[in-house]
Amino acid sequence: LIKTRRSVRKWKKEPLADKDITEILEAGMNAPSAGDQRPWEFLVLKEKEHEIYRSLNPNCPPGAAAGIMVCVNPKREKIEGYSEQDCSAAIENILLAIHAKGLGGVWTALFPANLPRVMEKFSIPPEIVPVGYVAFGIPLDKAGKPDPRYDESRLHFGVW
Ligand SMILES: Cc1cc2nc3c(=O)[nH]c(=O)nc-3n(C[C@H](O)[C@H](O)[C@H](O)COP(=O)(O)O)c2cc1C
Repeated sequence: LIKTRRSVRKWKKEPLADKDITEILEAGMNAPSAGDQRPWEFLVLKEKEHEIYRSLNPNCPPGAAAGIMVCVNPKREKIEGYSEQDCSAAIENILLAIHAKGLGGVWTALFPANLPRVMEKFSIPPEIVPVGYVAFGIPLDKAGKPDPRYDESRLHFGVW
């Protein structure tokens, strides 16, 4: 599953079942987090909302059936400095759950310059810190053969 996951940026114009979206969110919430603090909140957007979002943050591709913005809620933080790592783990779980369902998604960055407009449009409270946005849906194309990525030159056993 991990080796065949690849970013998908083109989707069929078909909605997703709510049950699938719920299970994908559940996968995110099962990520590890520092001190089990689970500092995350999830903003879920459907087709039309996704288009509004990506018009404000154009590095995200159009045409997704849904999107999930994973955010830190600092009020849920117990150990300072780890929440973005926790949310990144949640995002990877979300991507793997999407792939496990035969759907396709892509992790997209929230560009700082675009963030104020996104926060305002979706009434995100000012203390909330968006970490990443996953756009997903039913893939338009069949996945190709995945490129192998195991790279021994990155390994250091025992001592660097
Ligand atoms: C933190 C982060 C930010 C990313 N931002 C974007 C983005 O803004 N737009 C996009 O199309 N892909 C984005 N990606 C996806 C990467 O381009 C993609 O993961 C990378 O090219 C490797 O391809 P793969 O996901 O198919 O393995 C992002 C990935 C990460 C982890």
